[in-house]
Amino acid sequence: MDLRRLAGDVRVKTSYAFTERDGERILAAILSSEDIWRVIDLSDVPMMALCEAIRAMRAAGWVEFTESRIRLTDPGRKLVQELGIAPALELRCGRCRGRGLELGPVAKIADRFKEIARSRPEAIQTYDQGYVTEESTLYRVAFMWARGDLAGKELLVLGDDDLVSLACALTGIPRRVVMLDIDERIVQFVRDVARAEGLEVEALQHDLREPLPEELLSAFDTFFCDPTESLRGFLAFAGRGISALRGPGSAGYMGLTRREASLSKWRAIQKELISSGAAITDIRDDFHDYVNWPYIETMRAWGHLPVKRVPGRDEPWYRSALIRIELVEPPRVENVRLEGDIFTDPEAATT
Ligand SMILES: [Fe+2]
Repeated sequence: MDLRRLAGDVRVKTSYAFTERDGERILAAILSSEDIWRVIDLSDVPMMALCEAIRAMRAAGWVEFTESRIRLTDPGRKLVQELGIAPALELRCGRCRGRGLELGPVAKIADRFKEIARSRPEAIQTYDQGYVTEESTLYRVAFMWARGDLAGKELLVLGDDDLVSLACALTGIPRRVVMLDIDERIVQFVRDVARAEGLEVEALQHDLREPLPEELLSAFDTFFCDPTESLRGFLAFAGRGISALRGPGSAGYMGLTRREASLSKWRAIQKELISSGAAITDIRDDFHDYVNWPYIETMRAWGHLPVKRVPGRDEPWYRSALIRIELVEPPRVENVRLEGDIFTDPEAATT
């Protein structure tokens, strides 16, 4: 067995877009850590394909499992030596955690935001929720501010379990903040906090599978959306955001992970964003750290994990990039209703 054949076998068996390079990434990650969550995090290989590949590596005699650890065997060590694979290096900047910017004026609202977030509704599986750390949300706001997409601008947040609308409103700089969420608990929470804190946030209950209300179309300078990761779901939610933008010069922000999206899916998404009239101006990888959600043992990928251990709440392994787009042409997206299951595709792992 060699890596090319193993990659081919995984592709045939699963139909995942798994490459020889993905196999190298997994082996490099195992050289760095024996812990499954660190291996998932360091390798940046979609979780479902990774689980399958690690099983194939065990069948090939390259790795062994002991309790909750994954370890290279002697033949495995020989293989990585022959291939010249070195341990994965993270080298994340300790000051900004690799995000590449300062909080700046957003630091002033940090304590108030964290206090507010303490009583937030817990993530539930029904809506594929899972929120980012408060720090991630604050850096998001700083990034949008620094790009000129907040001050004096009208902002739409599509799906807001991360409480971006509240964090943006706390800065006092946007002209208008509107948030939509399907979950009545989150809508009510944002309304209650806004009232108590004297913030101007319009919170509306809305299912993004339904077309956007007419009055929200072509009405915003900026949108923020952390979509579900299936290809269809991602494009649908991003498309809703784009249809809410005024036109050229308006900007959109999205989260996109490697955990549930292969580079083939990334490419499909990038192509779609570009053909909808946008240029991709920024991709900041690993910008968002997610707080481990309570339904981790019932998520789709759990049963596929080669070794099982429930990660601690503050042991982030699910991360996503922050992507910024800016329209350079009038938006070309349809505002139509979406039928059927938009949350799952073969790579979906956490639904
Ligand atoms: Fe830094």
